[in-house]
Amino acid sequence: MSLRAEVVAAARDMHRLGLVAASHGNVSAREADAVHITPTALPYEGMSDEDLVTLSLAGEVVAGHREPSSERRVHLAVYAARPDVSAIVHTHSVYATAWSFRGEPLDTGTDELQAAAGGPVRTAAEAPSGSNAIARAAVEALNGRRAALLARHGVIGVGDSPARALDVCAVVERQAQLAWLLGQAR
Ligand code: 13P
Repeated sequence: MSLRAEVVAAARDMHRLGLVAASHGNVSAREADAVHITPTALPYEGMSDEDLVTLSLAGEVVAGHREPSSERRVHLAVYAARPDVSAIVHTHSVYATAWSFRGEPLDTGTDELQAAAGGPVRTAAEAPSGSNAIARAAVEALNGRRAALLARHGVIGVGDSPARALDVCAVVERQAQLAWLLGQAR
């Protein structure tokens, strides 16, 4: 499967798994000095790799006929800060997003969360969607981890492929469900 097809597959799986509703969320992957990202506000059913937009690392559109995701600044800032990251998934999954309203880390202390995220998942400072401020806040909250919560907004998961970044988001959602059930017992 091409990298672009992997981006679309992860985006459709994100929707199928219920981690987003409607056209929310976004997925990207880095290939050399370019980033393939899902377009803004396009439903996932029927999305193909021809719908993706390719950006330079500076954010210029270099290929594609659609408008890129409104959260492209978050994706580009994470790639700039984290050479180890090749793919990013952003979801609005319910329990993790609810946890993000608390403004504190998601810290269940399980091996599962450690393996997926590399430790407790921090919550980024609140900032408007699509802004440079949310991009900076996401980078700061990720710092060495593979996941972060965006305050009152959603989840960022990163990895070495779109499927792995999606797995991180799915684990964070399950861990957030546990945290709510247990009152975040450790
Ligand atoms: P896009 O459709 O522009 O990618 O934005 C969806 C979203 O989830 C914003 O946070």
